Order: sequence, then C-alpha cells, then structure tokens
Amino acid sequence: MSIPFAKPYFSAEARRGICKDIDAILSSGRLMLGEFTSKFEAGFASYIGSSTAVTTNSCTTALQISLMHHDVQNAEVLVPDASFLTDVSSVRWAGGVPVLVDTDPETLSFDLDDLKRKLTARTKGIIWVHLTGMISPAWRDIVKFARDHGLFLIEDCAHAHGASVDGIKAGTIGDVGCFSFYPTKPMTTGTGGILTTNDAALEKSARELRLFGRENGVGTVVREGNDWFMDEIRACLGYYQLLELDSALARRRAIADRYNSKLHAISGLKLLHIPEGNLPTWYHYTVFIAPDVDYDSLRDRLKEGYGIPTKPIYLPLHQEKIFRDLDDGTFANTELTLNRSLCLPLFPEMEDKQVDYIVSALGGLLADPK
Ligand SMILES: Cc1ncc(COP(=O)(O)O)c(C=O)c1O
Repeated sequence: MSIPFAKPYFSAEARRGICKDIDAILSSGRLMLGEFTSKFEAGFASYIGSSTAVTTNSCTTALQISLMHHDVQNAEVLVPDASFLTDVSSVRWAGGVPVLVDTDPETLSFDLDDLKRKLTARTKGIIWVHLTGMISPAWRDIVKFARDHGLFLIEDCAHAHGASVDGIKAGTIGDVGCFSFYPTKPMTTGTGGILTTNDAALEKSARELRLFGRENGVGTVVREGNDWFMDEIRACLGYYQLLELDSALARRRAIADRYNSKLHAISGLKLLHIPEGNLPTWYHYTVFIAPDVDYDSLRDRLKEGYGIPTKPIYLPLHQEKIFRDLDDGTFANTELTLNRSLCLPLFPEMEDKQVDYIVSALGGLLADPK
C-alpha cells in the first residue's frame, strides 16, 4: 500500500462549481480583485469571527504586510524556533531583528520562561505560530505577556484554519492572523494567503501594500507596495474550499481520534495531550519518538518497507544553515521536540483502513527495533 502524506480535498460538487465559475471569470475578463475576492474575503472573515479579511498571494506576504504595518525597522521581534523559515525571513525583509524563542514540548508553542527572558527594550512584537494546527493551551499567558509589554501579536495561522480554543478561533486572538493556502494546508487555493484583523488601520495598510502601494487599493501610490494580491481564480478556489472546511476538519479530527485511540497503548512514542475545549485542525498528526529509538531507521523502514511517508514537523530554525547566526545555545527543548517529531499521513479522504495499516506498521517496527 502506498499512502500520500497529504492531499487537498475538493468534493465532486465543488469541482463542478469551480469549473463553472472559472469559466464565468474568464468570460468576464475580470481576473483580479472582483466578485470572488470580495465573496471569499467576507466569507472567511465571518467564518473566523474577525471584522475583515484581506487576501494575499501567500502567508509569507501576509506576514510581511503585518510587519511593515507595525514598522519593525531595527526593532526586535520574538519568533518561535519551532516554526517555518519565512517567520524569520519576513522579519529581516521588513528591517527587523528576529529573536528566536525555545519551545514548550507540551504546547509546541513558546517556552514562556524563555519568552520572558528574551524580552528587551528593543522588542516590538511577537510572531506566534499555531504549530501543527493546535493553539497553545497557554494562549492566555502569551496574550497577557504581549499586552502587558505593549507588543503587537501576529498569529501565524498557516496550519490553523478553523482551529479554536475555548470557543475562540485562530486568527482572532492577536492583532492579526496570517493564513496560508499552500497545497498541503487544511484548505488551499493552489498557493495563496489571507490576513484577518479587527484593526481598520492594518486593513488599510494591507489593501495598499498588496497592490503596489495604491491608496485604499485604488488611488495614487502613497507607499512602496508590491504585487501581493490574490487573483480571482484562486479566490474562487478559496471560496469553495471554505464551504467545505468544516466537513474537512471533522474528517481530520475523526482520523486523529482513530490514531490517538490506537497509538495510545504503543510504547516508544509520545502523543500530544489536547485539553478539553481545544480543537486543533490536525494539519499534522505528530507523534514524538522516544530517545532510545533509532529515528532515522524507523523513518526509512516505514517508507521503504511499508510505503508510508513521514516527516519531522520542521528543522529547528537555528539549525537552518541560513539562520545559524541566531543560535545562542538556548534551544534545547526545540531540538528535543522537533528532532524526535514524526508526522504521519493525514488528509480528509484517508480511509480508516489506511490509518490502521500505519498504526500496525509503526507498532510493529517499534516492537522490533533493528
Ligand atoms: C508555519 C508557517 N508559516 C508560514 C508559511 C508560509 O506559507 P506560504 O507558503 O503561504 O507563504 C508556512 C508554509 O508552509 C508555514 O508552515
């Protein structure tokens, strides 16, 4: 059996609607910032619970816009070491100084002590990543820390479309939420992004910066912007993906429950503990392999012997060649967490028997280490 690691989901009905609507977009001649962009932005804002949403061509550009709005020139921005490359690069592109923060292995988010230690007089804001689609159970402490110190709080929601904690959705907790629609994400537009906020000034910046700096996205050029908007065809894909997001999430959660119930009793790995009231997207279903197990051999035997692709969540950012200068030796927990993380296949069309096959292969290999 060969199982994909991830696969976008479009129902047959959605595919029919998309083809019809793309045909209408092409006939209309309006290929950007038209009806589908408006419908998708309004629908996404309403789904998330923010007052507005602004589409972009990626999550990275949504992050970039948020950082430019907050003017981070020469200021420090706290970024999790357990995160994606562009959380750091976007700070540098905006003229800021990224400061990496160690990880709490239980929440996959900031180690709160390290977060506090890394605060300086130059700190202006925080990029907070909902890694694997789970909002940190310590979210109140993170928000309080940001508010107490007057720091802006950007949520990187690239994994967290529809994730919630205590009834609040990712993308409405901080000052701005930045989402990705890259093909592997819980919903996709091919590539693309969206920014959610309740801040009218940030919305204005976003509409200007994504369209060459034109005032309110239409008029004269009032700032240096870029070509960072989303076209109508991708907005159409996003509109249909949003209609199916809740059913895709329900299926993701059912698959994660099945994995949890079956992997629970297997020794040699640790599962994430998800508290009551916390609803992750399960962008990744991740287990953490015990230190005495040969990780590389396990990964290779799963792939070569069983056709099961896996990956670690990410390489710790301070171990990326390009960011070695950010390694100040304070990232022991990120290393222990990410370097032992093994993400298993999960996608909405996955069948129960595929989950069972993976559980049985993993359990067998852990019981018979070579
Ligand atoms: C946590 C995180 N942030 C940001 C990004 C960047 O997203 P995009 O490719 O839409 O720019 C990714 C993409 O994988 C991600 O995983």
